[in-house]
This record gives sequence, structure tokens and C-alpha cells, in this order.
Amino acid sequence: MSLRTRQGQAPGPDEGPGWLPAALALADQLDATNPLAHLRERFVLPEGLVYLDGNSLGPLPAHVPAVVADLLTRQWGHDLIASWDSNDWWTAPLRVGARVSALIGAQPEEVLATDSVSVNLHKLIPAAVALRPGRGSIVVEPGSFPTDLYVADAVAAARGLRVLRVGPDRLAEQIDDDVALVVYNQVDYRTGRAYDVAELTRVAHRAGALMLWDLSHSAGVLPVDFDTHEIDFAVGCGYKYLNGGPGAPGFVVAAERHLEDLPVPLAGWHGHARPFAMQDGFVPAPGIGRLRVGSPPIISLLTLQAALDVYDDLDVAELRRASLSLTGLFLDLAVELLVPRGLQVLTPAEPQRRGSQVSLAHPQASAVVRALTARSVVGDFREPDIVRLGFAPLYVTHADVVRAVQALIAVVDGAEHEDPRFARPRTEG
Ligand SMILES: Cc1ncc(COP(=O)(O)O)c(C=O)c1O
Repeated sequence: MSLRTRQGQAPGPDEGPGWLPAALALADQLDATNPLAHLRERFVLPEGLVYLDGNSLGPLPAHVPAVVADLLTRQWGHDLIASWDSNDWWTAPLRVGARVSALIGAQPEEVLATDSVSVNLHKLIPAAVALRPGRGSIVVEPGSFPTDLYVADAVAAARGLRVLRVGPDRLAEQIDDDVALVVYNQVDYRTGRAYDVAELTRVAHRAGALMLWDLSHSAGVLPVDFDTHEIDFAVGCGYKYLNGGPGAPGFVVAAERHLEDLPVPLAGWHGHARPFAMQDGFVPAPGIGRLRVGSPPIISLLTLQAALDVYDDLDVAELRRASLSLTGLFLDLAVELLVPRGLQVLTPAEPQRRGSQVSLAHPQASAVVRALTARSVVGDFREPDIVRLGFAPLYVTHADVVRAVQALIAVVDGAEHEDPRFARPRTEG
């Protein structure tokens, strides 16, 4: 739906850059009726900044510094080693995992907050493959986040398996009874395209394969319904939409039906059934706790736990509605105003096919992102030519959407991205 039809009339000729007053009025109206709008106050966001990078690093929830201060000064500083019991440090990975479970439709006992996504994939991919003995291949999506591909390749090389790069659109025709496991991302980190978790999980299961979803770009913003769709395994990030802070532990999910026999490829003392027995010989803990390895980064883990308070009592369906409203407004404006200026929209327009980000292609995307940042609109660049903008419904407003479009127009119309200050830095290769 275009801005004009949403408003019922075209912006008048005296209203500045034509589209802007109508867009701002619409944004105000949408923000005023957004039931999640009050949540923005729960975050520390620099005045005037439009932060569209929560899909890389979520912002700081305002109550978290006090929790961390208590953690440092009282729990560590005063209670010291006793904290493993008295402050429940030992059970934290399970407790924080249970908090995440509510966001992804899993049982609390199915989720553990621990380690990075990469490490968690190193646990789950070999474990899943071992549950399908006699099958020799793993399917991955060629456009997956690279770590998923690296881990699948490494596991396959170590175990003499084949990795088939088959995109979701071709899974049904290509999967066969040699496939042990399919590893897909619910939302494509580059294009923002969302995949049909229910249908693709069914396709994998019909072929007798297991299904592992990387939820890094969906947990906290899209419904996952892990149990309803009988998903086998999942992983996801703690530092993106969950706002757990830089390097926050991720999470690992295994369906209850697999837990009893789940092999433990990365054995370590925290995953032992009786860690303090200090005995020779690994005996896996019952349940999801067997996927623990070594001492968790307690400060990060409890920071993530505190950050998750923002999600208390929130309904994922509500978050999804708010996210779609933000991306919908951005897409409407992008089609009318940015496409004619040479930016190409990569994210599908259909609501069920898009995540909580919108990606635009531009031949000088890296410089465009830097020029946007100079205008206090923070998104990020992804290879080869992508401007990636994340619309986290907890703190992004419709007014932010309009400001982002306004800034993009100013950058492109003023050729600001051609300023040598915004040339590609060496770290971007
Ligand atoms: C889809 C996806 N998977 C995995 C990762 C990497 O996670 P980690 O750094 O926790 O290994 C990312 C990071 O951006 C990601 O976007």
C-alpha cells in the first residue's frame, strides 16, 4: 500500500519535500496506537540516534547496569565463591535458557543459554547426525550465515559426510533418504527473507531427516513455535534482538524427545551428571544440561538474564505485529522514494516472507551506511552491496522509520556517500 493511498490523499505542494509531512503524520498516528511504544523508555539510546542495528547488537536496557553492579560488587566482590550456590550461578544456564524458551515456543527444559552460536552448532550438528546412523549428508542453505556453513563443513570433514548446499526453495525436490540433517536460518541475515519453518521442517521430516534452525535473526521478533512444528534442534544469539550485550552467550535447543539419547560431542565437566564427583569417564547430565561444556561467562550470562526482563509478559504475536508495521512502513516509503533513487529492495514485501529487517542493495552500500551513520542513523553493511536496517519492535518507532528514509534520501541525493571519509575501511576487506 502506498503512502498516498494510506493517507487518502497526496501530500500538498507546499509541504516541504512533498512526502514528508504526510509520512510523519502517519508515523505519529502509528506510534500513538502502538501498544509496545512505552518499551522504548526501557532502553538507553543516545538522544537523536535512530538505531537500526539491533539485529547485530541490541542496545542496553536501562535497568541492566544496576543489576551488573550488584553482580560485581555484592555477588562477586562480597559473596565470592559461595555465589555458585547462594546466587544460583550454577543453575544460570538452565534458568536463562528457560526464559528464552518462552520466546520461541519451546519447553523450559529444552533450552540452555550457553556458548556462542558457532560452538553450539559444533555440539548439535554432530549430535543430530549421530541420531540418524547410516545417512551420509547434511543439507545447508548456501546463503546461510557463514559460521553455519563452516561448522557443517568441519563436522562433515571429520566424519566423512557430504554437505549439500540446497536452498529452501529446492529442498522438497532435492532431499533424499541419505540426508541426516537440514540446517537452515529462519531469517536470511542478508536479505531479511523469512522462511516457512513449519513447511520446511515437514519436508525434512517426510524424508526422515532432522531439522535444525538458526534463530539468530528471529528469536524475540518472530514466532518460532518450536514445539508446535516439532522442530528437532535450534540455536540462536543472545546479543541481537535479546539485547544481552556484546558477546552474550547464545542458546541451544533440543526437543525433549531427543534429550535422553542425545550424544555429547563436546564433553566437559559442566555437562557431567555429577560434576563434583570429579570422576574419570564422562557421564552426560540428564536433559539439556548435557550440552553445557565448561564454566560459563557468569557476568555475561546474568547480564543476558537481566536484559530478558524487558520481554516479561510480552506476547510474541504482538512483537511480530509491531515489527511488521515498522518494516511495512519502511518498505512502502522505500518503493516510492528510494527505488527511484537507485536503491533496490531485497526483502520480500509479503509479510509472512520477511523478518524484522529490510535490506537494500546499492553499488556503494558500505559508504552509504557510513554516510547514514554520520546522520545519526545506524544500520550496517553486508557483503557485497547490502545496506541492512533492523527494525526491532522494542525500541524502534515509526518516526525513526521516516527519519531513516529521510536520511537515505539526503545521502543519495547529496552524493554524501562519495565523500572520501566514507571510503571502505580495510577491515571490510
Ligand atoms: C545467523 C547467524 N548465525 C550465527 C551467528 C554467529 O553467532 P556467534 O558469534 O554467537 O557464533 C550470527 C552472527 O551474526 C548470525 O547472524
